[in-house]
Amino acid sequence: MLDFLFYCFLGILFTYIILLVLILMGDCDLYLQFASKFGKKPSALKGKVVWITGASSGIGECLAYELAKAGCKLCLSARREQELNRVKKQCLLHGNIKEEDILVLPLDALKFETHSSATQDVLKYFSKIDILVNNAGRSQRALFEETSLDIDREVIELNVLGVLSLTKQVLPHMLERKEGHIAVMSSIAGKLSAPSSASYTGSKHAIQGWFSTLGVEMSDRNIKVTLLCPGPVFSNLLETAFTGKAGEVWNKYNSIKSLIVPLLHMYLVLWNLRVIQ
Ligand SMILES: NC(=O)c1ccc[n+]([C@@H]2O[C@H](COP(=O)([O-])OP(=O)(O)OC[C@H]3O[C@@H](n4cnc5c(N)ncnc54)[C@H](OP(=O)(O)O)[C@@H]3O)[C@@H](O)[C@H]2O)c1
Repeated sequence: MLDFLFYCFLGILFTYIILLVLILMGDCDLYLQFASKFGKKPSALKGKVVWITGASSGIGECLAYELAKAGCKLCLSARREQELNRVKKQCLLHGNIKEEDILVLPLDALKFETHSSATQDVLKYFSKIDILVNNAGRSQRALFEETSLDIDREVIELNVLGVLSLTKQVLPHMLERKEGHIAVMSSIAGKLSAPSSASYTGSKHAIQGWFSTLGVEMSDRNIKVTLLCPGPVFSNLLETAFTGKAGEVWNKYNSIKSLIVPLLHMYLVLWNLRVIQ
Protein backbone atom coordinates (compact mmCIF):
# COMPACT_ATOMS: atom_id res chain seq x y z
CA MET A 1 0.00 0.00 0.00
CA LEU A 2 2.80 2.39 0.96
CA ASP A 3 4.61 1.53 -2.29
CA PHE A 4 1.47 2.32 -4.28
CA LEU A 5 1.04 5.71 -2.57
CA PHE A 6 4.71 6.46 -3.12
CA TYR A 7 4.43 5.78 -6.89
CA CYS A 8 1.23 7.87 -7.07
CA PHE A 9 3.08 10.72 -5.37
CA LEU A 10 6.00 10.35 -7.79
CA GLY A 11 3.61 10.35 -10.77
CA ILE A 12 1.85 13.52 -9.61
CA LEU A 13 5.16 15.23 -8.84
CA PHE A 14 6.53 14.30 -12.26
CA THR A 15 3.41 15.62 -14.03
CA TYR A 16 3.62 18.90 -12.12
CA ILE A 17 7.32 19.26 -12.92
CA ILE A 18 6.67 18.73 -16.66
CA LEU A 19 3.79 21.25 -16.64
CA LEU A 20 5.86 23.73 -14.65
CA VAL A 21 8.75 23.45 -17.11
CA LEU A 22 6.34 23.94 -20.05
CA ILE A 23 4.84 27.02 -18.40
CA LEU A 24 8.17 28.55 -17.40
CA MET A 25 9.65 27.91 -20.84
CA GLY A 26 6.57 29.11 -22.69
CA ASP A 27 5.34 32.65 -23.08
CA CYS A 28 1.63 31.84 -23.03
CA ASP A 29 -0.89 29.33 -21.69
CA LEU A 30 -0.72 25.67 -22.65
CA TYR A 31 -3.53 25.99 -25.23
CA LEU A 32 -1.63 28.66 -27.17
CA GLN A 33 1.63 26.71 -26.86
CA PHE A 34 -0.09 23.65 -28.31
CA ALA A 35 -1.84 25.64 -31.07
CA SER A 36 1.34 27.42 -32.13
CA LYS A 37 3.19 24.09 -32.45
CA PHE A 38 0.46 21.84 -33.88
CA GLY A 39 -2.28 24.22 -35.09
CA LYS A 40 -2.98 25.38 -38.64
CA LYS A 41 -0.36 27.57 -40.31
CA PRO A 42 -1.31 31.24 -41.01
CA SER A 43 -1.28 30.46 -44.76
CA ALA A 44 -4.50 28.48 -44.19
CA LEU A 45 -6.21 31.86 -43.73
CA LYS A 46 -5.34 33.21 -47.20
CA GLY A 47 -8.16 35.37 -48.58
CA LYS A 48 -10.02 35.63 -45.25
CA VAL A 49 -11.27 39.03 -44.11
CA VAL A 50 -9.83 39.75 -40.68
CA TRP A 51 -10.80 42.78 -38.58
CA ILE A 52 -8.11 43.54 -35.97
CA THR A 53 -8.72 46.08 -33.20
CA GLY A 54 -5.71 47.60 -31.46
CA ALA A 55 -3.78 47.25 -34.74
CA SER A 56 -1.76 50.45 -34.29
CA SER A 57 0.93 48.89 -32.08
CA GLY A 58 2.20 45.84 -30.22
CA ILE A 59 0.52 42.48 -30.66
CA GLY A 60 -2.17 43.79 -33.04
CA GLU A 61 0.46 45.38 -35.27
CA CYS A 62 2.56 42.19 -35.44
CA LEU A 63 -0.56 40.14 -36.09
CA ALA A 64 -1.38 42.43 -39.03
CA TYR A 65 2.08 41.75 -40.53
CA GLU A 66 1.72 37.98 -40.13
CA LEU A 67 -1.75 37.95 -41.65
CA ALA A 68 -0.66 40.24 -44.51
CA LYS A 69 2.12 37.76 -45.28
CA ALA A 70 -0.47 34.98 -45.23
CA GLY A 71 -2.56 36.87 -47.82
CA CYS A 72 -5.50 37.89 -45.59
CA LYS A 73 -7.63 40.96 -46.31
CA LEU A 74 -7.33 43.28 -43.34
CA CYS A 75 -9.36 45.90 -41.57
CA LEU A 76 -7.08 47.74 -39.15
CA SER A 77 -8.68 49.61 -36.25
CA ALA A 78 -7.48 51.68 -33.29
CA ARG A 79 -7.74 55.37 -32.36
CA ARG A 80 -4.46 56.63 -33.93
CA GLU A 81 -5.06 56.82 -37.67
CA GLN A 82 -1.49 57.87 -38.44
CA GLU A 83 -0.14 54.74 -36.74
CA LEU A 84 -2.67 52.59 -38.59
CA ASN A 85 -1.47 54.04 -41.89
CA ARG A 86 2.11 53.26 -40.89
CA VAL A 87 1.10 49.65 -40.19
CA LYS A 88 -0.77 49.51 -43.50
CA LYS A 89 2.37 50.67 -45.35
CA GLN A 90 4.46 47.93 -43.71
CA CYS A 91 1.80 45.32 -44.52
CA LEU A 92 1.95 46.34 -48.19
CA LEU A 93 5.76 46.37 -48.20
CA HIS A 94 6.25 42.95 -46.63
CA GLY A 95 2.89 41.26 -47.13
CA ASN A 96 1.23 39.33 -49.84
CA ILE A 97 -1.65 41.73 -50.46
CA LYS A 98 -2.69 44.72 -52.54
CA GLU A 99 -3.65 48.25 -51.47
CA GLU A 100 -7.37 47.51 -51.80
CA ASP A 101 -7.03 44.51 -49.46
CA ILE A 102 -6.47 46.79 -46.46
CA LEU A 103 -9.04 49.08 -44.89
CA VAL A 104 -7.86 51.54 -42.25
CA LEU A 105 -10.82 52.19 -39.99
CA PRO A 106 -10.15 54.43 -36.96
CA LEU A 107 -12.28 53.31 -34.05
CA ASP A 108 -12.49 54.13 -30.36
CA ALA A 109 -13.46 50.96 -28.53
CA LEU A 110 -15.07 53.12 -25.84
CA LYS A 111 -17.45 54.86 -28.24
CA PHE A 112 -19.95 52.05 -28.25
CA GLU A 113 -22.44 54.07 -30.29
CA THR A 114 -20.04 54.02 -33.29
CA HIS A 115 -19.59 50.24 -33.35
CA SER A 116 -22.66 49.54 -35.46
CA SER A 117 -21.72 51.98 -38.24
CA ALA A 118 -18.09 50.80 -38.14
CA THR A 119 -19.27 47.21 -38.66
CA GLN A 120 -21.42 48.35 -41.59
CA ASP A 121 -18.38 50.15 -43.06
CA VAL A 122 -16.33 46.94 -42.98
CA LEU A 123 -19.17 44.94 -44.50
CA LYS A 124 -19.69 47.55 -47.21
CA TYR A 125 -15.99 47.42 -48.09
CA PHE A 126 -15.33 43.67 -47.94
CA SER A 127 -18.93 42.26 -48.02
CA LYS A 128 -18.06 39.90 -45.16
CA ILE A 129 -16.09 39.52 -41.94
CA ASP A 130 -14.53 36.09 -41.49
CA ILE A 131 -12.57 36.79 -38.32
CA LEU A 132 -12.87 39.49 -35.67
CA VAL A 133 -9.78 39.84 -33.48
CA ASN A 134 -10.75 41.80 -30.37
CA ASN A 135 -7.27 42.85 -29.37
CA ALA A 136 -7.49 46.50 -28.18
CA GLY A 137 -6.88 46.88 -24.47
CA ARG A 138 -5.01 48.64 -21.71
CA SER A 139 -3.30 47.34 -18.63
CA GLN A 140 -3.33 48.72 -15.09
CA ARG A 141 -0.66 48.85 -12.44
CA ALA A 142 -1.47 49.61 -8.80
CA LEU A 143 -2.31 47.73 -5.65
CA PHE A 144 -5.99 46.94 -5.13
CA GLU A 145 -6.13 49.24 -2.10
CA GLU A 146 -4.72 52.13 -4.14
CA THR A 147 -7.07 51.70 -7.10
CA SER A 148 -10.12 53.92 -7.30
CA LEU A 149 -13.45 52.60 -8.48
CA ASP A 150 -13.22 55.01 -11.44
CA ILE A 151 -10.20 53.08 -12.70
CA ASP A 152 -11.94 49.74 -12.22
CA ARG A 153 -14.81 51.13 -14.29
CA GLU A 154 -12.54 52.48 -17.06
CA VAL A 155 -10.64 49.20 -17.35
CA ILE A 156 -13.85 47.17 -17.49
CA GLU A 157 -15.37 49.53 -20.05
CA LEU A 158 -12.41 49.17 -22.42
CA ASN A 159 -11.27 45.60 -21.86
CA VAL A 160 -14.70 44.04 -21.40
CA LEU A 161 -17.63 46.20 -22.53
CA GLY A 162 -15.79 47.51 -25.62
CA VAL A 163 -15.10 43.92 -26.67
CA LEU A 164 -18.67 42.81 -25.98
CA SER A 165 -20.09 45.81 -27.84
CA LEU A 166 -18.14 45.18 -31.05
CA THR A 167 -18.72 41.43 -30.90
CA LYS A 168 -22.48 41.98 -30.55
CA GLN A 169 -22.41 44.02 -33.78
CA VAL A 170 -20.39 41.47 -35.75
CA LEU A 171 -21.96 38.24 -34.45
CA PRO A 172 -25.38 38.64 -36.20
CA HIS A 173 -23.55 38.90 -39.55
CA MET A 174 -21.59 35.71 -38.79
CA LEU A 175 -24.75 33.92 -37.67
CA GLU A 176 -26.47 34.95 -40.89
CA ARG A 177 -23.56 33.56 -42.94
CA LYS A 178 -23.43 30.51 -40.67
CA GLU A 179 -19.67 30.88 -40.32
CA GLY A 180 -17.14 33.07 -38.60
CA HIS A 181 -14.49 33.26 -35.95
CA ILE A 182 -14.32 35.58 -32.93
CA ALA A 183 -10.88 35.80 -31.35
CA VAL A 184 -10.32 37.66 -28.11
CA MET A 185 -6.96 38.76 -26.74
CA SER A 186 -7.20 37.69 -23.13
CA SER A 187 -3.98 37.15 -21.19
CA ILE A 188 -2.29 34.75 -18.86
CA ALA A 189 -3.66 37.27 -16.32
CA GLY A 190 -7.10 35.98 -17.31
CA LYS A 191 -6.16 32.63 -15.79
CA LEU A 192 -4.17 33.51 -12.70
CA SER A 193 -3.90 36.25 -10.13
CA ALA A 194 -1.48 38.98 -11.22
CA PRO A 195 -0.65 41.11 -8.16
CA SER A 196 -0.52 44.92 -8.55
CA SER A 197 -2.88 44.53 -11.47
CA ALA A 198 -6.25 43.58 -10.02
CA SER A 199 -8.44 45.65 -12.35
CA TYR A 200 -6.66 44.32 -15.45
CA THR A 201 -6.68 40.77 -14.09
CA GLY A 202 -10.37 41.09 -13.24
CA SER A 203 -11.19 42.37 -16.74
CA LYS A 204 -9.36 39.47 -18.39
CA HIS A 205 -11.05 36.93 -16.09
CA ALA A 206 -14.38 38.48 -17.09
CA ILE A 207 -13.48 38.10 -20.77
CA GLN A 208 -12.68 34.44 -20.15
CA GLY A 209 -16.13 33.89 -18.63
CA TRP A 210 -18.09 35.75 -21.28
CA PHE A 211 -16.33 34.28 -24.29
CA SER A 212 -15.90 30.71 -23.09
CA THR A 213 -19.68 30.73 -22.61
CA LEU A 214 -20.17 32.19 -26.09
CA GLY A 215 -17.90 29.43 -27.41
CA VAL A 216 -20.16 26.77 -25.90
CA GLU A 217 -23.31 28.49 -27.22
CA MET A 218 -21.81 28.71 -30.72
CA SER A 219 -20.37 25.18 -30.80
CA ASP A 220 -23.20 23.81 -33.00
CA ARG A 221 -23.50 26.94 -35.16
CA ASN A 222 -20.17 26.93 -36.98
CA ILE A 223 -18.89 30.05 -35.20
CA LYS A 224 -15.53 29.54 -33.53
CA VAL A 225 -14.56 31.46 -30.41
CA THR A 226 -10.91 31.57 -29.38
CA LEU A 227 -9.48 33.04 -26.21
CA LEU A 228 -5.81 33.88 -26.61
CA CYS A 229 -3.71 33.99 -23.45
CA PRO A 230 -0.19 35.30 -24.08
CA GLY A 231 2.24 35.89 -21.24
CA PRO A 232 4.33 39.08 -21.00
CA VAL A 233 5.10 40.59 -24.42
CA PHE A 234 7.21 43.69 -25.07
CA SER A 235 4.81 46.37 -26.35
CA ASN A 236 3.39 49.75 -25.35
CA LEU A 237 1.08 48.06 -22.85
CA LEU A 238 2.98 49.19 -19.76
CA GLU A 239 3.63 52.72 -20.97
CA THR A 240 -0.08 53.28 -21.47
CA ALA A 241 -1.29 51.37 -18.41
CA PHE A 242 -3.72 52.93 -15.96
CA THR A 243 -2.48 53.44 -12.41
CA GLY A 244 -4.80 53.58 -9.40
CA LYS A 245 -5.77 57.20 -10.03
CA ALA A 246 -7.96 58.59 -12.79
CA GLY A 247 -6.09 60.49 -15.50
CA GLU A 248 -2.67 59.01 -14.63
CA VAL A 249 -0.61 56.78 -16.93
CA TRP A 250 1.80 54.23 -15.50
CA ASN A 251 5.29 54.51 -16.87
CA LYS A 252 7.41 51.46 -16.27
CA TYR A 253 10.58 53.55 -16.17
CA ASN A 254 9.26 55.77 -13.36
CA SER A 255 9.94 53.37 -10.58
CA ILE A 256 12.14 50.30 -10.51
CA LYS A 257 10.27 49.07 -7.46
CA SER A 258 6.95 49.13 -9.23
CA LEU A 259 8.45 47.01 -12.00
CA ILE A 260 10.32 44.50 -9.86
CA VAL A 261 7.67 43.86 -7.21
CA PRO A 262 4.94 42.76 -9.64
CA LEU A 263 7.46 40.59 -11.52
CA LEU A 264 8.52 38.92 -8.29
CA HIS A 265 4.89 38.43 -7.35
CA MET A 266 4.11 37.05 -10.78
CA TYR A 267 6.97 34.57 -10.51
CA LEU A 268 5.68 33.35 -7.15
CA VAL A 269 2.15 33.10 -8.46
CA LEU A 270 3.29 30.86 -11.30
CA TRP A 271 4.24 28.37 -8.66
CA ASN A 272 0.66 27.97 -7.58
CA LEU A 273 0.04 26.42 -11.02
CA ARG A 274 -3.48 27.77 -11.31
CA VAL A 275 -2.58 28.65 -14.87
CA ILE A 276 -2.92 24.98 -15.81
CA GLN A 277 -6.39 24.17 -17.03
N1 LIG B 1 1.90 42.98 -23.80
C1 LIG B 1 1.60 41.99 -23.01
O1 LIG B 1 2.40 41.59 -22.16
C2 LIG B 1 0.26 41.31 -23.13
C3 LIG B 1 0.11 40.04 -22.57
C4 LIG B 1 -1.12 39.42 -22.65
C5 LIG B 1 -2.17 40.03 -23.29
N2 LIG B 1 -2.00 41.28 -23.82
C6 LIG B 1 -3.18 41.90 -24.47
O2 LIG B 1 -2.86 42.17 -25.81
C7 LIG B 1 -3.65 43.25 -26.26
C8 LIG B 1 -2.76 44.22 -27.02
O3 LIG B 1 -1.82 44.77 -26.13
P1 LIG B 1 -0.32 45.14 -26.54
O4 LIG B 1 0.56 44.44 -25.60
O5 LIG B 1 -0.12 44.95 -27.98
O6 LIG B 1 -0.29 46.68 -26.12
P2 LIG B 1 -0.22 48.01 -26.98
O7 LIG B 1 0.98 48.01 -27.86
O8 LIG B 1 -0.38 49.11 -26.00
O9 LIG B 1 -1.52 47.93 -27.89
C9 LIG B 1 -2.78 48.28 -27.42
C10 LIG B 1 -3.65 48.61 -28.62
O10 LIG B 1 -4.97 48.91 -28.14
C11 LIG B 1 -5.39 50.11 -28.75
N3 LIG B 1 -6.32 50.83 -27.88
C12 LIG B 1 -6.12 51.27 -26.62
N4 LIG B 1 -7.20 51.95 -26.18
C13 LIG B 1 -8.09 51.92 -27.22
C14 LIG B 1 -9.39 52.45 -27.41
N5 LIG B 1 -10.01 53.18 -26.46
N6 LIG B 1 -10.02 52.24 -28.58
C15 LIG B 1 -9.42 51.53 -29.57
N7 LIG B 1 -8.19 51.02 -29.46
C16 LIG B 1 -7.54 51.21 -28.29
C17 LIG B 1 -4.11 50.92 -28.99
O11 LIG B 1 -4.29 51.81 -30.10
P3 LIG B 1 -4.59 53.38 -30.01
O12 LIG B 1 -3.83 53.91 -28.85
O13 LIG B 1 -4.12 53.89 -31.34
O14 LIG B 1 -6.08 53.47 -29.86
C18 LIG B 1 -3.14 49.81 -29.38
O15 LIG B 1 -3.23 49.56 -30.76
C19 LIG B 1 -4.33 43.84 -25.04
O16 LIG B 1 -5.67 43.40 -24.98
C20 LIG B 1 -3.56 43.25 -23.88
O17 LIG B 1 -4.34 43.12 -22.73
C21 LIG B 1 -0.81 41.92 -23.77
